[in-house]
Amino acid sequence: MSKKMKLPKQTLLVCTGKKCGSKGGYTHYKNLRGMIRKEEVKDDIQVMRLQCTGNCKMAPVVGTMPKNKWYGQADDTKVEKLFKKAIKPPKKKKTD
Ligand code: FES
Repeated sequence: MSKKMKLPKQTLLVCTGKKCGSKGGYTHYKNLRGMIRKEEVKDDIQVMRLQCTGNCKMAPVVGTMPKNKWYGQADDTKVEKLFKKAIKPPKKKKTD
């Protein structure tokens, strides 16, 4: 009998490379972990740290998968918006 991997629906990515880490990346990572815990969505959303994505000029960089949306110069407002979008249920398509 094989076991299935437990995978969340979405992954939030936070660069904590040298540049992003010094410009708030660690704080964003910590805050997102707190939001996930508070909203009790850890089975649906996970947050992961990345090393440099090669976009240091836009530090700090955050993103989401599988949507592949990325934000540079992410401040607290952008991070909160990213999280709210992640927990928002997907829009249902209209059917005629
Ligand atoms: S350290 Fe984050 S993009 Fe380079």
